[in-house]
Amino acid sequence: MVALPVDLSRFSRVALGNWPTPLEHCQRLAKVLGGPRILVKRDDVNGLGVGGNKLRKLEFLLGAAVAAGADTIVTFGGVQTNHGRLTAAACARLGLRCELVLTRQVTRVPGSEVLTAPKYGEAYERSGNVALDRLYGARLHIHDDDAQAEAAAGRLVAELRAQGHRVASLPVGGSNAIGVLGYLACAMELRHQLRDRGEDATRIVCAIGSAGTAAGLALGAALLGWPVTVNAASVSNSAPECLADLDRLVGDAAELLEVPHPRLDHVQVTERAIGDGYGVTTNAVWDAIRLFGRTEGITLDPVYTGKAAAALIEAIRGDEIHTSETVVFLHTGGLPGLFGYVPELIDEVEA
Ligand SMILES: Cc1ncc(COP(=O)(O)O)c(C=O)c1O
Repeated sequence: MVALPVDLSRFSRVALGNWPTPLEHCQRLAKVLGGPRILVKRDDVNGLGVGGNKLRKLEFLLGAAVAAGADTIVTFGGVQTNHGRLTAAACARLGLRCELVLTRQVTRVPGSEVLTAPKYGEAYERSGNVALDRLYGARLHIHDDDAQAEAAAGRLVAELRAQGHRVASLPVGGSNAIGVLGYLACAMELRHQLRDRGEDATRIVCAIGSAGTAAGLALGAALLGWPVTVNAASVSNSAPECLADLDRLVGDAAELLEVPHPRLDHVQVTERAIGDGYGVTTNAVWDAIRLFGRTEGITLDPVYTGKAAAALIEAIRGDEIHTSETVVFLHTGGLPGLFGYVPELIDEVEA
């Protein structure tokens, strides 16, 4: 049995997902890449609301909100936010009102002057996650850029409170100290699964956006004394920005758990798959989506897991990962976002 030296049962938690998620050995994918042993941790098929990584965070975030007496949840994200969709599904399950404040802003070029642009289009604005948000009964407030969305969110929370609602705001991507606990639990679950099968992993590869997922894995590995490397592929921010976010979240979660703030020696962040920024796809991303689909029947998304997979493929092809290694690719979900990218999707799968 793998035990964490901290007690997560003292935190309020609501049951939303099915755990443990499957850990699948992808031999056909590894063969095509001529690379290491690849295991895919299927956090995309964990149950509620079409699944995805946010469910692990929401179990703790909504646990805390419900314990504090909230009846209304407000959260934020891009138009095709998976976090928003899963918050909407979880609120439906828990009987909470859900308000999503969304921004059309997608482009951000890291490390240089910041370029931003709103993304429009019938599929992007009405299909995929947006359609599911509405299906799950959330109210949507869509703005052209982050600044407008932020200002509107402040006004909305004030209005809802004035109407007598007890409002809890969840951070972008569900990433704060409480949300990090979800992926701390995942690190423990994964180590346990590997041990049961008599194996271990040298690396966990995942996407990094708001950083809570990688922070939970890194903190969990440190607390377990597990020398696995977390390879996080950025989908938007520069590597130094990601590392600063990770360090802050790991520190905040360590403080909450009353354990020392561990060093992040086993975390590496790559910018190699970002392309032109958040929500902007590249040929490498579509190649990765096709490869996972055609070798394993696994669906990646264009914003997160497609970028993480593109980074993994480049690292394997560049001999940065030895063939003797075992790599866990954390599939963090995002399937509905794929349909937000019609007609690009149709062109790419017909190619
Ligand atoms: C499908 C998917 N994968 C990965 C991530 C990145 O996780 P995090 O924001 O915890 O870094 C997100 C975040 O929105 C996501 O929706």
